[in-house]
Amino acid sequence: MVELGENLPEEVLALVFSLLPLRDCAAAAGVCKAWATAATSSVVWHNTSISCDCELESMLPPHLSTCLDHVHNLRLECEPSCKRSRQAAIELLTMMAGRAPGLRGLRLECRGEKPLFDAGRDILGAVSAVCRTASKLSHLDLRRLPFTLDDALVLQAAHGCPELRSLFLDNHTLVNGVQPGSVLELLKACPHLRALGLHLSSVSRAVLEALAAPDRAPFELLALRCACPEDARASPPPDEAWAALRCRHPELAVELELEPALSEDNVTRILQPAVPVAVLRLNLSGDTVGPVRIAARHYAATLRTLEVRASRSRELDAALEELAACCAGLREIHCFCVVRASVLDAFRERCPRLRSYTLKLKREPHPWRPTLLR
Ligand SMILES: *[C@@H]1O[C@H](CO)[C@@H](O)[C@H](O)[C@H]1NC(C)=O
Ligand SMILES: *[C@@H]1O[C@H](CO)[C@@H](O)[C@H](O)[C@H]1NC(C)=O
Ligand SMILES: *[C@@H]1O[C@H](CO)[C@@H](O)[C@H](O)[C@H]1NC(C)=O
Ligand SMILES: *[C@@H]1O[C@H](CO)[C@@H](O)[C@H](O)[C@H]1NC(C)=O
Repeated sequence: MVELGENLPEEVLALVFSLLPLRDCAAAAGVCKAWATAATSSVVWHNTSISCDCELESMLPPHLSTCLDHVHNLRLECEPSCKRSRQAAIELLTMMAGRAPGLRGLRLECRGEKPLFDAGRDILGAVSAVCRTASKLSHLDLRRLPFTLDDALVLQAAHGCPELRSLFLDNHTLVNGVQPGSVLELLKACPHLRALGLHLSSVSRAVLEALAAPDRAPFELLALRCACPEDARASPPPDEAWAALRCRHPELAVELELEPALSEDNVTRILQPAVPVAVLRLNLSGDTVGPVRIAARHYAATLRTLEVRASRSRELDAALEELAACCAGLREIHCFCVVRASVLDAFRERCPRLRSYTLKLKREPHPWRPTLLR
């Protein structure tokens, strides 16, 4: 292997190393000088995915830490309940914060259970430190952080990262700590933002108006999750504000995730006709038939994906068939309860662009796998 490697040009070696996990890449760097040069080249580090495993001894061998200068996109995975993994992630983020000028994309993912009452202050502090120095950061994805994000972090990202193109905040917590005022400030500080993921209660009429301002860059994606008490209490922006936004950004797609915290009234208030809903995920404790009917009525032209978690009923079957008949542009339908055969037929016949569906005619062991078309 060493002999073979010695004869390979550096670019080829680098390409091979770029496919290796970090640990193997570090080992390769120790083999010989030629391998070390290839293993520390920018091709290898441009897109880096690091998983802070519990068994990992030391995160990054010291001779590789300068490689962080080459990292453009970093995906960092850790397990917050494991002390070692957590510390390794914080150490790495802190190291990044010291060298962050080249960083363009950061995605953080947590695995496993988080300890009870854990606010993740240490991890969030390290993220904030990266935001303070990564002035070229374009993409920040914090959706898989199980910690409540607050105004301070959003403001830090706003002022530290004026180049932001996309920002996705935590979407698995049950509390929302981000006020519309911070989102407004973010929009002002980051004129190139085109994709945002937030809780519904972080979005006010003023936020939609700011997005619809004549000098804003085209805005493409607004992912909204409605799951916290704050979301249930907040009044959703009025339909006119949505209509104006849609008129200003005809390409805008809205992704809506509605979770059990919402009452039927709340759901009806959110599902207004002018929202350009492309993805709708319903996981409600109350009625689901009504919302499916509303979706068929309001979003026939824009809906691409529908996901439904509900109990089986004849009314739901009928509502789904109605929706299949209206939403010709649908690409995906995933229903996590058994449906009657005519529902499956309706989607297969009426939605020519369907490419993936989960429509089961009898109970199957979980997890239910989708059926892919062509
Ligand atoms: C890094 O990832 C981006 C986006 O996924 C991709 O467009 C780019 O080609 C990748 N760069 C390298 C050097 O692998
Ligand atoms: C929530 O995060 C997951 C990834 O963890 C993503 O697939 C989903 O689209 C997000 N939902 C919203 C509304 O942002
Ligand atoms: C949401 O539902 C709750 C309970 O029904 C109600 O108290 C609250 O006013 C509703 N909020 C909005 C904005 O409709
Ligand atoms: C749906 O809601 C239930 C009850 O709150 C929750 O346990 C489950 O994780 C949710 N499913 C998804 C996919 O969000």
